[in-house]
Amino acid sequence: MYRVIRIATEKGEDLRKKAIQGKFLDTSRKIRKVRTEEGNFLEIPVTEAAGERVEGFRVFEQENPEFLEKPGSLKESLKSLLSEAELASVPAGWQILGDIIIVGIPEILENKKTRIAEALLLMYPKCRTVVRDFGIEGQFRQPKRELLLGSGTETVNKEHGCFFKQDVTKVMYSKGNLQERKRMSRLGEGEIIVDMFAGIGYFSIPMAVHSRPKKIIGIEINPESFAYLKENIRLNKVEDIFVPICGDCSKVAPEGTADRVLMGYVGTTHHYLGPAIKALKKSGGILHYHETVPEGLARTRPQERIEKAACKLGKKVEILETHRVKKYSPGVFHVVVDARIYE
Ligand SMILES: C[S@@+](CC[C@H](N)C(=O)[O-])C[C@H]1O[C@@H](n2cnc3c(N)ncnc32)[C@H](O)[C@@H]1O
Repeated sequence: MYRVIRIATEKGEDLRKKAIQGKFLDTSRKIRKVRTEEGNFLEIPVTEAAGERVEGFRVFEQENPEFLEKPGSLKESLKSLLSEAELASVPAGWQILGDIIIVGIPEILENKKTRIAEALLLMYPKCRTVVRDFGIEGQFRQPKRELLLGSGTETVNKEHGCFFKQDVTKVMYSKGNLQERKRMSRLGEGEIIVDMFAGIGYFSIPMAVHSRPKKIIGIEINPESFAYLKENIRLNKVEDIFVPICGDCSKVAPEGTADRVLMGYVGTTHHYLGPAIKALKKSGGILHYHETVPEGLARTRPQERIEKAACKLGKKVEILETHRVKKYSPGVFHVVVDARIYE
């Protein structure tokens, strides 16, 4: 929240000096005149350190704050508020989705999290919300996040000519997968596609928008992601070719229909190789198989898993390409293998 004290104009200068001495003047915002039902006042911007009252004056939440200038960097703007040790832990990066800033804040900065959120909003005046990120959990890939500033957590992120509506506290959106989303947007023209782990349409919406496959069947198990998938199909105007299905892809994936199957899920993806291969046309097709794998096994384990699953179904495999999507954790990479499955 942006705090202010409202004071009669003639007393404003005295209070401003007291706020400087008391170290609670917020120098990032403008002192400005306001007209209210109770009369005309000066609004003196103050920090959290001012508490609820200052010398008998109530502290208000300011509407539409006006900022003096864009701070150079997050660390720079927090210099006067944080100790040396705290400054060393200030996050160096964050994600912006639509008008929402998502930031990981270490435990040591717990009691400075609101100040950090305020500083970030100053840097990005077009953003309206800051949420703290604690990572992604479980099969549904749900993020653990805390709202720090602002109210709405739903936004529309525009990327590569596509719209992705989402609630950042309910669904994930990996910035590290951007190149893969772009790569998928160049594939699939005129084909029948099955996206086994569609999420909110991360890979199949760019494909639908840019490559115009004949048909995309997008399967998603998490009802919250599924609701956004349907919304994104509508927002991107691809209803004519996109069929969303809510369910477990190992049970509801069609058989013998696809030219190409997307498997954009990591952790236990290999368990779904059987249904993915069965979803391809009898004569075969292409798999995009994702896996998180220790670096030393990146050129063997995913390929062997595909070969084993194909062999069980009496199919052959040609490995077309293996590449890194991103670093997943120390020594572990998220890779994607493109494989041609044939009779
Ligand atoms: C990790 S997300 C995709 C993220 C994407 N790669 C990106 O760019 O951010 C994978 C999705 O698969 C869904 N999922 C997991 N298991 C599934 C299953 N058995 N059937 C269908 N969807 C599933 C999850 O709910 C999640 O939305």
